Amino acid sequence: MKGIILAGGLGSRLYPLTYATNKHLLPVYDKPMIYYPIQTLVNAGIKEILIIVSGPHSGHFIPVLKNGKEFGVEHIEFAYQEKPDGGIADALAIARNFAEGDSITVILGDNTTDADISKPVKNFKEGASIFLKRVPNPNKYGVPRFDEKDPTKIVEILEKPKDPPSDFAVTGVYIYDKNVFEIIKTCKPSWRGELEITDVNNAYLKLGKLTWAELNGYWLDAGSFNTLYLANKYWTEKKNPSIKNISIE
Ligand code: G1P
Repeated sequence: MKGIILAGGLGSRLYPLTYATNKHLLPVYDKPMIYYPIQTLVNAGIKEILIIVSGPHSGHFIPVLKNGKEFGVEHIEFAYQEKPDGGIADALAIARNFAEGDSITVILGDNTTDADISKPVKNFKEGASIFLKRVPNPNKYGVPRFDEKDPTKIVEILEKPKDPPSDFAVTGVYIYDKNVFEIIKTCKPSWRGELEITDVNNAYLKLGKLTWAELNGYWLDAGSFNTLYLANKYWTEKKNPSIKNISIE
């Protein structure tokens, strides 16, 4: 199993913060945001990682991550996505050579979680696995619709639906077999002009090859001002519990 972190994009939801650097290098408590998905992969036993970057600050990653040794990564590689607004599936397509026919665990670089995914990574055989998390605002995410008769069965995933059919978000943590690259080739740009990872997941679903599990643990996509604040608050309080007792008044 190899690991892929998608760390491209313009981070326009975080302008003006992302005028100066890439979103995934912004601080989350005492570390740049991208340290968290790297740690999630390393904790799951993944030692070979590809980081896909794009946009004007692509060069900022190397001085921060260096050769990955301090995380316990044996091999770190960087790849460049030409279209920073091409979408997650467009970025993932670049990973084909790196994957070399192996299965891949993919994490979006702004997804911070303390969930342990080592079991699903170890037990993965084929198809695709996604991880769901209950959220108060599912309309901001990919959302599964479950079968009315069988609530364990996903029948469709909708990207940012106005009327979410469930209160689950599809988190940015995915495991794919080698067929993912052929599936991406069948995807067409969505209404937002991106190749959507949700379309990739729906393609696996149609083939009867999509499995899901609830992500147990904290999870946040730190890509907006509010969630960036909440991710900082979560990790600050987790690593430094006494801070809750400090009053600034
Ligand atoms: C992306 C995916 C969405 C997923 C989310 C998780 O959204 O398209 O399906 O729920 O990541 O972080 P985006 O960050 O592109 O808005």
